[in-house]
Amino acid sequence: MAFRLPFLKNNRQVNDRLLTTENLPKHVAIIMDGNGRWAKKRGLPRVAGHKEGMKTVKKIVRKAVELQIEALTLYAFSTENWKRPKPEVETIMKLPNEFLSTYLPELMENNVRVQTIGYTEALPQHTRNAIHIAMEKTANNTGLILNFAINYGSRAEIVEAVKQIATDVKQNKIMIDDIDEDCISEHLFTRKISDPDLLIRTSGEVRLSNFLLWQNAYSEFYFTDVLWPDFNEEEFEKSLAVYQNRKRRYGGI
Ligand code: IPE
Ligand code: IPE
Ligand code: MG
Repeated sequence: MAFRLPFLKNNRQVNDRLLTTENLPKHVAIIMDGNGRWAKKRGLPRVAGHKEGMKTVKKIVRKAVELQIEALTLYAFSTENWKRPKPEVETIMKLPNEFLSTYLPELMENNVRVQTIGYTEALPQHTRNAIHIAMEKTANNTGLILNFAINYGSRAEIVEAVKQIATDVKQNKIMIDDIDEDCISEHLFTRKISDPDLLIRTSGEVRLSNFLLWQNAYSEFYFTDVLWPDFNEEEFEKSLAVYQNRKRRYGGI
């Protein structure tokens, strides 16, 4: 096969591994964690970490575009994050506007399509507006799907799916035997995107924190101690090279 990526003419060395143009993950999901600790280490308020984290988002999106990755799902706010102090939540809710108002032209230029998963109807109106504008403007773009998980929780998502399916059965729209894995996948927020091939979590935490429990069934996991604001293009490429060295067996041999 000819190289898909003209800019990556040769496979290149990332640390001790080789990053190749083939076998890149189609869908990468990232738990962007460690903003608060990044700020604390510097004697800054936690929100400074969230702002710095936005810069990392831009870097990783650019790299994903360059590598022609199909979808990037970024965990930005969980259904459990409402437990945080109100001022922190309020600042986080302002970030989509800050991010998208300055970055939208570049997203357009790069043919990126913005989408969301999660209970966005529960977000403040100003946050919803910012997201709505970005989704509308980029709706016809055909490149990278940039999927923000905002007010997302996987268990709530599964509960909703079960309720919807039960309703469909009750109303005789489907039979119980029609319920299969595809049926459940079709009732999740992620219905239009393939399951993540690679899941990255920064900051040293080794857990899913209610992120894409169903969808990550066969994803490759990559955990790094690097805090999200310190994560960068090189760290991202490193994770991709590690992914390429994994053998996905799906239960086979
Ligand atoms: C991740 O960073 C961002 C969100 C959850 C919104 P954290 O804010 O969780 O940072 P730490 O884990 O406290 O360092
Ligand atoms: C997960 O990070 C959610 C996001 C990155 C948006 P948390 O910081 O909320 O996760 P826990 O609380 O450490 O599990
Ligand atoms: Mg955290």
